[in-house]
Amino acid sequence: MQEKNKTRTSPVNPSSSTLHTRCFRHPRVDQIERELKYLIYPGSQTSVPMICGPTGTGKSTLARRIVETENEQAADQMEANPGLLPAVYVEAPNSGENEFSWRLLYERILDALGDHLDTPRSVYGIDPESSRMVRPYGAGRNNLASLRTAVERGLRARWVRFLVIDEAAQIIRHAHSRGRLQAQLDTLKSLANECGTQIVLVGAYDLYPLVSLSGQLARRIHVLHFERYRVDVPEDLEAFATCVRAFERALPELWDGKLMRHTDALHHNTLGCIGTLSGVLTRAAHYAETTGKWDDSALKRALLSEAQRLPILSEINDGEAAIGPSQTRVWEPRRRTESTRPRSAA
Ligand SMILES: Nc1ncnc2c1ncn2[C@@H]1O[C@H](COP(=O)(O)OP(=O)(O)O)[C@@H](O)[C@H]1O
Ligand SMILES: [Mg+2]
Repeated sequence: MQEKNKTRTSPVNPSSSTLHTRCFRHPRVDQIERELKYLIYPGSQTSVPMICGPTGTGKSTLARRIVETENEQAADQMEANPGLLPAVYVEAPNSGENEFSWRLLYERILDALGDHLDTPRSVYGIDPESSRMVRPYGAGRNNLASLRTAVERGLRARWVRFLVIDEAAQIIRHAHSRGRLQAQLDTLKSLANECGTQIVLVGAYDLYPLVSLSGQLARRIHVLHFERYRVDVPEDLEAFATCVRAFERALPELWDGKLMRHTDALHHNTLGCIGTLSGVLTRAAHYAETTGKWDDSALKRALLSEAQRLPILSEINDGEAAIGPSQTRVWEPRRRTESTRPRSAA
């Protein structure tokens, strides 16, 4: 048995395979966490804070951590009151259908609340032994309206302060009918109002148009721009370099003193996005460990190709322009500009 496991083991050194599980604090994360704290409090008029930014900045990682931290900080209260669940994280489903599936979303929320749809229930409330939510089990319990009611009751019964919906652009991705979409978005607003739960929407720039899709919701939304580290902001470049140093220190036997000199190239290739940087460096470490040596070619092989990088840059430029100067920090004068055209070969 042991031998079998051995032969299955990947030749990759565990240090590179665990790199993606490392999570470094960096200034942008601190900034978004701080701003979110200002928005989340009982009675806040901002019932729907929105965290929006480029793909690969680390939004999902941050969102999951915020929920974990909130629940960890309430550990004593949760022990005293087994029903309490201050923060919940779900990912909006991609049902593969033409319309967004609210049913799947509600089911995921109920699951996160500890409500198991197929278990018979007779009483509504919290089971003190399992800390799970229990609710009446009757005819038609799984139609959309009753799921929605179950979600409302669940959020109230568990005193959920905030619910994070990641990948929230799924909600508007297949919006064929504006009227129907507006009605659905308004259900988000009323969910928040009726349950006293703030709903934090997290997503890439394709989530941003939601602000203008529903007047009802727009008033309640506050956008937090989880920006990349920009090339034209000196403190951003410094923060990016600090992140490269943190990765260098995470694998000292491979990278000690060898990564920092590539900071500019890494910034250019990853567009200043720390999640993308993590992906590139994890790949590079993996190459180096499988070939048994580290050199610049391992890093070059791991970089995003221009066919990958340019569409991301184009999305970022569009997103930053849409969110606008009020949310985007630009330091003048510009030291370098970025073009979506490929660089000519040297
Ligand atoms: N602060 C961080 N430190 C180290 N790795 C990170 C950090 N933030 C994100 N990552 C890594 O980057 C990858 C992409 O991050 P993710 O949160 O999914 O980005 P996004 O949701 O913005 O697309 C993940 O594998 C994650 O582990
Ligand atoms: Mg994500």
